[in-house]
Amino acid sequence: MEKLKMKVLYSRDEINRVVRGLAEQISRDYQGKDLVVVCVLKGAFMFMADLVRCLKGPCIIDFVRLASYGSGTSTSGTVTVTKDLETSITGKDVLVVEDIVDTGITLDFLVKKLQERKPGSLRVCTLVDKKHRRKIEFKADYVGFDLDQGFILGYGIDFDEKARYLPEIYVMEE
Ligand code: IMP
Ligand code: MG
Repeated sequence: MEKLKMKVLYSRDEINRVVRGLAEQISRDYQGKDLVVVCVLKGAFMFMADLVRCLKGPCIIDFVRLASYGSGTSTSGTVTVTKDLETSITGKDVLVVEDIVDTGITLDFLVKKLQERKPGSLRVCTLVDKKHRRKIEFKADYVGFDLDQGFILGYGIDFDEKARYLPEIYVMEE
């Protein structure tokens, strides 16, 4: 296997601290509510697993998988659902958990799609927000890290399916 050139950007300690902070905010905001956490596969699986374990109240977990990213490093513009939710979100308080918001195209599509099912509320939590790279306006409600530049991988996030298993987040070099 070819070796990827990368260096640590966010250590496990930093990730843990940020995830705990997000979980605190979310726990406060959803106190006494029936929360449905929607994990966007595959990139958010590790983040979601850590996040829900830090929440102070119960939640239901479901998954969606979207296709928008080829093996390149930028969203093509067309998004499709390749795995839909299995639970009804109508009337429920829904929190979408994503790894990275980049151009905004993927989450804009998903949010619109989920809104059609009339959830009681719908918010988005992203571990990493690349605000400067938006092609369309999109605002996440909970943001872990703001990132100006660089292609990242690790902690669930891949490059061509590589590096998802790594516990830290790395940035690709050159
Ligand atoms: P968007 O539609 O451009 O916002 O695409 C967001 C998706 O692109 C993320 O959920 C990631 O799966 C992927 N993505 C964006 N930036 C990166 C990166 O730096 N590394 C790996 N995947 C990325
Ligand atoms: Mg993703």
